[in-house]
Amino acid sequence: MERTLIPVFERIFRAHPEVSSFAPGRINIIGEHTDYNLGYVLPAALNLRNYFFLSRRPDDKVSIWAENFKEKEEFSLSGIFFAENRQWVNYIKGVLWVLEEKGFELQGINGLIWGNVPLEAGLSSSAALEVSVVHGLDTLFELDIEPLEMVKIARKAENEFVGVKCGIMDQFISVFGQQSKALFLDCETLEYKFFPLRMMEAGLRIVVYETGVRRELASSEYNRRRHESSQALEVLKKSGVKKYKEATLVKLEGMKNGMSDVVFRRARHVISENQRVMDAVLALEKDDFIRLGELIFQSHESLRDDYEVSCPELDLLYEVAKEFPGCLGARLTGAGFGGSGIALVKKEGIAAFKEKLLEDAEKKGFPRPTFYEVEVGEGTQAYLLNEEKG
Ligand code: GLA
Repeated sequence: MERTLIPVFERIFRAHPEVSSFAPGRINIIGEHTDYNLGYVLPAALNLRNYFFLSRRPDDKVSIWAENFKEKEEFSLSGIFFAENRQWVNYIKGVLWVLEEKGFELQGINGLIWGNVPLEAGLSSSAALEVSVVHGLDTLFELDIEPLEMVKIARKAENEFVGVKCGIMDQFISVFGQQSKALFLDCETLEYKFFPLRMMEAGLRIVVYETGVRRELASSEYNRRRHESSQALEVLKKSGVKKYKEATLVKLEGMKNGMSDVVFRRARHVISENQRVMDAVLALEKDDFIRLGELIFQSHESLRDDYEVSCPELDLLYEVAKEFPGCLGARLTGAGFGGSGIALVKKEGIAAFKEKLLEDAEKKGFPRPTFYEVEVGEGTQAYLLNEEKG
């Protein structure tokens, strides 16, 4: 597909693209709603990506063709305003806005974007778009942006221009991801380590279950969860704990009287989830997928009961998975409130597992889910294209 995008670019802009870049979406194996609480996460990059082809223009205009929507947007670098009616262009505008704010010298571009990360499915299509745009611009204009700086630029675009107060996980994995490896990240220090995922060798696959439920509530409820978990931390601080990473469930119990039941449960999720990420890493090191699966199930329970970010469609995945002999673990992945879940399934059981989910979803009148058997791919790449070859 990527190659067939070049003639499309040439047809639309009557020019050759000079640079191409891509950046992946992600799944998160475990460690949900811990990134903005400066805890631990364990995501992996998908082989589903956003691609960006671009070339310089002599003026300060930005002209972008979105191949998925067959839509074109044009604006000038000197007037970057939020688009109320076309969300996709805001991710691109956001990145350009951050780069300008940081003083990078830019000029106009023609650009084409296309991606196969499902949209609004909790698989970080937005981080994939932002990162591919930063990386493409970095290569075209030789901006010399370090990988960690790319992460921060992409996140700032999302936080401050698009207006979603996400943590650092999605942009981080989209930049740093490695083939067949999960990335353990300490979201406070930004230290990270890769752990090989040898599931294939163990006859297992990661199945993504996309509920088809769009996440309307996601952004307001997401911000509310952020607020509640920081309220709990303020109370915990009175017991001498400075950050979530230092907190224990015992400490939390001791401070229970100082907080509401809701705030207490939010904190219990964050503290127990941090521990589960650490335990998951130990399990991965030993290729102990049974233990990993248990932790994944527990993560879902905690997200459902304590953090309250699940929904009936995601709970269905959990319930079917719990009863299904060939499934070791399943949980929602990403922010929740719809979007996607992941399941660790024995290869030979995948067809029956999907069948059962389709049947049960239909019985309950849920939207028809979509499945992806994903492979863990690499992080962002960018290339200079050879004009003669086109
Ligand atoms: C979204 C955000 C991430 C993270 C997850 C929940 O994907 O973009 O930063 O907070 O939700 O773990």
